[in-house]
Amino acid sequence: MRWQKKSLVDDRRGFAVSEIDRLVRQGGVHPMGDAKASKIELQPLAGGLGGRLLGVDLSRPLDDSEFADVYQAFLDHLVIFISNRRALSPEEHCAFAARFGEVDYSPFSYPFKTPTVEGHTEILLNVKEANDRSINVGGFWHADVTYRERPHKAAIIYAREAPPYGGDTMFANQYLAYETLSPGLQRMLDGMSAEHSSGMPHAGESARFASVSRTSAPRPEDRKFSASLYAKADDGEESRTTHPVVRTHPETRRKCLYVNRGFTTRFSDMTVEESRPLLEYLWQHASRPEFTCRYRWSQNDIGVWDNRCALHYALNDYSGHRREMHRISVHEPTRP
Ligand code: SIN
Repeated sequence: MRWQKKSLVDDRRGFAVSEIDRLVRQGGVHPMGDAKASKIELQPLAGGLGGRLLGVDLSRPLDDSEFADVYQAFLDHLVIFISNRRALSPEEHCAFAARFGEVDYSPFSYPFKTPTVEGHTEILLNVKEANDRSINVGGFWHADVTYRERPHKAAIIYAREAPPYGGDTMFANQYLAYETLSPGLQRMLDGMSAEHSSGMPHAGESARFASVSRTSAPRPEDRKFSASLYAKADDGEESRTTHPVVRTHPETRRKCLYVNRGFTTRFSDMTVEESRPLLEYLWQHASRPEFTCRYRWSQNDIGVWDNRCALHYALNDYSGHRREMHRISVHEPTRP
């Protein structure tokens, strides 16, 4: 690949500023890979992360060189989006997702019940009906399934139906979250690990109280998770595991912060009470506005996020409108 975008932090540390970086600052559109051969261009969504790919249409399979450019954009920008001219079939969605890694066919852990697309146990069906005022799926900052020993490497999400406004998804760059901590805190966190649990003791509350639409704040009776997606308390046991608080990305070799409000419960060998103040600081820091981008979905868009180094948050602000997302995830090959 001829060109790779440098991160904001690279620039701050004095790397040469290339012509392409100058264009990036102006918010332009840039050729990917070998400019002569590749028709793919990248439009950055924000300074922190995120890019829209132009010139890619998944209604036909990508050749290896096109996919190499898409994959490089995924590594460089952490979350990428592709707008497709027509609806994609579940098979087309699966074929694209499988190029990112080993597809996850397993159901999520308690307390999540995960409806799937008929005939496709690998496609999570995330639907919120227009008259459903309850809590949405993923309406809190998290990385997916970090309560598993091998969490997801990436999610490949397809917008089957997008509301006319609202229902955006936000993302946060966890390389920047780590790189902007003081050297003292970095040193301290570098040697630490933390427990992650599917029980969502902290995120449940934040999701319950944050949702709002243009016309209304939630009523007390709306402050519940959608019954179709969350199991009853006696239906199962939560999953737990531990991961390093700072991880090294297996492909980019950059360090990133790896705790999230959704699933991280406490630091290893510490109580929940002892852990909470520092975790709270890190959760707040991890989603600083400068580290984020926000994507407004259109029907037939595909988004791919790197679940190893980005957090995401699905906004629940589209009461009165239907939203249907289909999500396929791929496993990390090894533990973080
Ligand atoms: C999620 O998978 O956490 C939700 C993503 C979305 O619906 O935008």
